[in-house]
Amino acid sequence: MKEQLEKIKEEAVKQIEASDALDRLNEIRVAYLGKKGELTSVLKGMKNVAPEERPKVGQMVNEARAMIEAKLEETKQILARRAREAQMKAEVIDVTLPAKKANVGHRHPNTIALEEMERIFTGMGYEVVEGPEIEYDEYNFTKLNIPEGHPAKDEQDTFYINKEIVLRTQTSPVQARTMEKGKLPIRMISPGRVFRSDEVDATHSPSFHQVEGLVIDKNITFADLKGTLAEFARELFGEETKVKFRPHHFPFTEPSAEMDVSCFKCGGKGCRFCKGTGWIEILGCGMVHPHVLEMCGIDPEGYTGFAFGVGLERIALLKYEIDDMRLLYENDIRFLKQF
Ligand code: DAH
Repeated sequence: MKEQLEKIKEEAVKQIEASDALDRLNEIRVAYLGKKGELTSVLKGMKNVAPEERPKVGQMVNEARAMIEAKLEETKQILARRAREAQMKAEVIDVTLPAKKANVGHRHPNTIALEEMERIFTGMGYEVVEGPEIEYDEYNFTKLNIPEGHPAKDEQDTFYINKEIVLRTQTSPVQARTMEKGKLPIRMISPGRVFRSDEVDATHSPSFHQVEGLVIDKNITFADLKGTLAEFARELFGEETKVKFRPHHFPFTEPSAEMDVSCFKCGGKGCRFCKGTGWIEILGCGMVHPHVLEMCGIDPEGYTGFAFGVGLERIALLKYEIDDMRLLYENDIRFLKQF
């Protein structure tokens, strides 16, 4: 009996010392001290022990139990400490390491140019309105005096969704939408994305941005158009900027013009930037065609107005002297950060 107990103790200690996890200690506890454990089965064998020997054997079993328990407890402490140390080591923060950089983006040149334009026009009392990028052919063309078969419809190589719906080729349809609302007078600009089936190159993209402008009130004349756009040019390109209006044709304005600004690089003397002309073309404009007013529910006898359309990318490229439009669409932070 004594030898058996010695063997059990020895084996238990060996297993305890070899265990590397708290779970394993529990298994050992059950295997030796549990109801069906080894020590319990020794106690069950007591009936074969001579009665006078029994207290002695009982004591020995108790000692073995206490010894195994103590060993279990001791090992449990060691394992727990080891686990805590490992955890602390894993969670340690090295304050001398360089911090992770939070990369902040940068406003796009288009956005900067647009915010500047919005500032100028809201300063003159204009509202900023938006229109849909997917537009009815009727608003994109018909209501702007571009009927079926009109050559201007071919010029703007359009993406058609179906016969009636197009990706708008210009922001001008927002003019019609605003006029139709019937609230007069109107002073609005409308920035947004437009689409044309153009090949990508340094000056073209199938998707770009325009800013439309529209003023409708009583007694609006071409002088209002000139004064407003000249002031806009001075605010955008500098106080010395001069403007020049060249006759042009747009179906929805009559008369129509294109506005040039004096080259802000050479002051008008002529340089590489303005191709030696001293002038840079920046927008189309004109007096809203009476027929357009009529189609949009405004009486051309009582009201007149002017409109203009600016290419946003064109302004951004000019203002920041960027020579390839494609750079605006790559969104390379190293490029964007320069503006
Ligand atoms: N929508 C014209 C275009 O995309 C630009 C334009 C010209 C807009 C004259 C206007 C305007 O409002 O009056 O080429």
